[in-house]
Amino acid sequence: MITSVRLINFKNFADETLKLGPFTVIVGANASGKSNIRDAFRFLHGIGRGYSLAEIIGGKIGVGGQLEWEPLRGAMNEIIRMSDHGPSGIETFHIIVDTDITGQSASYWIELLLNHGTNDGFLVAYENLTADGTSILETQGPEPKTDILADDGVEAGIYPPLHRFHPTLTEMQRSSYVRREVHEIYGLLGRMRFYDFDVAQLRIPTPPGALEIGDKGQNLATVLESIYSDREKRTILLSWFEELTPMDVRGLEFPRDPSGRIHLHIVDGNDRRFSADSASGGTLKFLAVLASLLANDQPRLCFFEEIDAGIHPSRLWLLVDLIESQTKLNGFQVVTTTHSPAMLDWISDQTFENTSIVYRDEDSNDSTIREVVGLPIIQKLRKSQGLGRLLLTGWIENTLSALADKDEQSRGSDERSDHP
Ligand SMILES: Nc1ncnc2c1ncn2[C@@H]1O[C@H](COP(=O)(O)OP(=O)(O)OP(=O)(O)O)[C@@H](O)[C@H]1O
Ligand SMILES: [Mg+2]
Repeated sequence: MITSVRLINFKNFADETLKLGPFTVIVGANASGKSNIRDAFRFLHGIGRGYSLAEIIGGKIGVGGQLEWEPLRGAMNEIIRMSDHGPSGIETFHIIVDTDITGQSASYWIELLLNHGTNDGFLVAYENLTADGTSILETQGPEPKTDILADDGVEAGIYPPLHRFHPTLTEMQRSSYVRREVHEIYGLLGRMRFYDFDVAQLRIPTPPGALEIGDKGQNLATVLESIYSDREKRTILLSWFEELTPMDVRGLEFPRDPSGRIHLHIVDGNDRRFSADSASGGTLKFLAVLASLLANDQPRLCFFEEIDAGIHPSRLWLLVDLIESQTKLNGFQVVTTTHSPAMLDWISDQTFENTSIVYRDEDSNDSTIREVVGLPIIQKLRKSQGLGRLLLTGWIENTLSALADKDEQSRGSDERSDHP
């Protein structure tokens, strides 16, 4: 499980850390930086897919000419934090991910340097993987060398500069004698999924054979059919789905058209069939969330953009309930951004502990990430008013603004006392 992600000079974060739990909720105003956090997770996932830095940032065209990997948002030089007055002169950014793999803590740190010399954008400046405080892989220096701890724990090797356009983690995981943590972290990063469902996409009949749902919701019918063929999963899927919809759902069907594409039909208690094309947007969205959480090819972490969008506030408890029950399973994690006060009202105490706000002060470009649970008197107010109301009325943001002012004042008075 990923326990935290720290961002240094990445987009609009100077040095901020997001704490993660089984279910992590990220709130914050428009343009505060929630999707920038998603970009950081996509960067990490790109490493776990074995891509070069240029591919992670600029996108990758796969065999057949299809876009296999979407570029990160923004231009190359927009990844590094800009100051309030334009380019900051900063040349590197860092992403640090802390994990809890098989009962021990492991931390992976990567620092990327803007490379003015070529069109390749970035080079690895520094990389380090530690497990329970022991360094397992470390790449550093102006002519980087990599120290590696072998799997017997004794033998250490020093390697000449590796391909600096690829993370060393990617290079070293190909080797069988490196410590298992190298493979574990690489595997963890590779098993993330990102979803931002588009209802129009969910209505389209889908080709057979697809194993997983795409980031916009591609392959919904195919993936649902495969979940449906597993008796145990079918029962889970239908019981959640029945709760969501006012329809008396009897089941799902997956007829083929002459071209072999799979259609999704919902069958009601009167044996009527409704095609995905006529189903409501919220119904399809909920089915897509179910498909992503129950898919046979189970990822370790699913990151949703505004998971609540299109789902009625009175049904959001079901969505929260579904995610909280699914993330009880062996290290599976869900992260979502949301603007929904109603969703916040339904989260459990544990999810509350893992809810963060991204906050951007009016006169700054930088944002901070704060655990909501750490705000003064929030526990009491959550009980009396509900967390949703505290977001809706602006209490959370006003409190952060007041705390920032107080910090500013105390820094000012410290400076004055230094220079009487
Ligand atoms: N390199 C950078 N340096 C400083 N700020 C940046 C950089 N790149 C992007 N930003 C800021 O990040 C903002 C976009 O943030 P993001 O898309 O994450 O917002 P969001 O919280 O997801 O908003 P919404 O709720 O509207 O989706 C931009 O408005 C820009 O100000
Ligand atoms: Mg966004």
